[in-house]
Amino acid sequence: MHVVTIGTGYVGINTAAALAYIGHSVWGVDVDAHKIEMLKSRKAPISEAGLDALLRLPLDLSFTTDLAECIQSADVIFIAVGTPSLPNGEANLAYVMSAAEDIGRTLKPDHDVTVVVKSTVPVGVNEMLERKIRMCVTADGGNDAYLHFASNPEFLREGTALLDTFYPDRFVIGTKDDIAYAMLYALFEPIIRQTFEMPDFIDAPSKRPETQCLRTDQISAEMIKYASNVFLALKISYANEIAGLAEKLGGNMADISRGMGMDKRIAPYFLQSGLGWGGSCFPKDSLALLSMAKDYDYEMPIVQAAVDVNERQKTRLVHKVLEKLYTLAGKRIALFGLTFKPKTDDVRNSPAVDIACELMRRGAVVVAHDPEGLALARVIYRDLGIVFCDDPELAAQDADALIIATEWPFYRSVDWAKIRTFMRTPFLFDARNLLRDQKELVSGFEYCGL
Ligand code: UGA
Repeated sequence: MHVVTIGTGYVGINTAAALAYIGHSVWGVDVDAHKIEMLKSRKAPISEAGLDALLRLPLDLSFTTDLAECIQSADVIFIAVGTPSLPNGEANLAYVMSAAEDIGRTLKPDHDVTVVVKSTVPVGVNEMLERKIRMCVTADGGNDAYLHFASNPEFLREGTALLDTFYPDRFVIGTKDDIAYAMLYALFEPIIRQTFEMPDFIDAPSKRPETQCLRTDQISAEMIKYASNVFLALKISYANEIAGLAEKLGGNMADISRGMGMDKRIAPYFLQSGLGWGGSCFPKDSLALLSMAKDYDYEMPIVQAAVDVNERQKTRLVHKVLEKLYTLAGKRIALFGLTFKPKTDDVRNSPAVDIACELMRRGAVVVAHDPEGLALARVIYRDLGIVFCDDPELAAQDADALIIATEWPFYRSVDWAKIRTFMRTPFLFDARNLLRDQKELVSGFEYCGL
């Protein structure tokens, strides 16, 4: 099939490359000329395991900034652009609206095509985009009878995006249109039925998943995405709330999470306590869900509590630091980890950066190291005042305290004894509990988990 994906961010590029791998002819479109140039030279604009290797394969995969160059042959068009948060928590729909307008303006009349929304959009936006595209197509007397629409939310995680794309737990298709459903099912059939040849550029799971396919309406598909992300976020917040109480009562949170996760109904995932959730999805989607509910005067106290507990984790950490250092004015803090989680170079909406800002607001100098996130942090956060440092040992030089803010396995293998000798005082705040079970590595420190 001929496929166009609009947007080459995490969702767009992984979808485009995976669809090309399973035999489709794919165009990736983006307004960002720099990204498209990189992709044309087969270089991924994001750091994602296996993606560069996949792009180097001889696939039928092309890139352009000009939708008109590829749209006329498309059987399926994906909208996979971002929906970042506006200051009031609502999702910014400017990019999805502009993609819909581009599609509507560029499609030739009578073009038989299925338009699929993969972007995470608030409830009702699929319908709004459909109306917009139909309006554009019929404005000059065009026929929109051959247009089909579906919502197909994406569940991939940064850092394991290809793994999640090739081996998904579920595949959700939201549409009342039988043709749109059949097109999407056929497009992804090798993945849904797990019949594709397993790629060697990512670590395959020991067992192929039994991917479940759910057909529903567009609104429910939109809600499945938000409800899933926010459920995972509140699972983490719950673990964090329990961890706070465990600390007071003398419980061992590692064992508590383990013990809870042994119940199949609870499962062991997303019970890792620490600095809380960040990234481009959970913070944005929880706020968007609250904002949608507010429009209907509907309270969501559980979701609100998950957000509040997540914020409180940052305050808890700062208070722990204050308990040891008394004041932060003039203190030097080494921060290990800037990305919002390990295995990615993404430093956007990272709790680590929030912590750095709060410490600096209270007068500290923050010297930060990250195994992969420094290059992006130096660009995005160049004006914040964080001192970026390529060498963890240098970052710890003269530090009054050290905080592990991202659980990079790399920090297990640094020379902690040496780092200790560089520091002024030996306070180690392990805000991700990375070394909780290996405290012998940091025996020279006064260790404090979160
Ligand atoms: C999340 C979802 O997991 C994906 O299913 C979804 O497709 C994606 O959002 C999206 O909407 O695009 P992602 O943001 O890449 O994926 O990262 P996660 O692995 O879910 O982690 C999110 C945050 O939760 C990170 O800051 C991580 O450190 C934190 N976390 C995760 C914890 O604090 N504890 C845990 O036990 C797990």
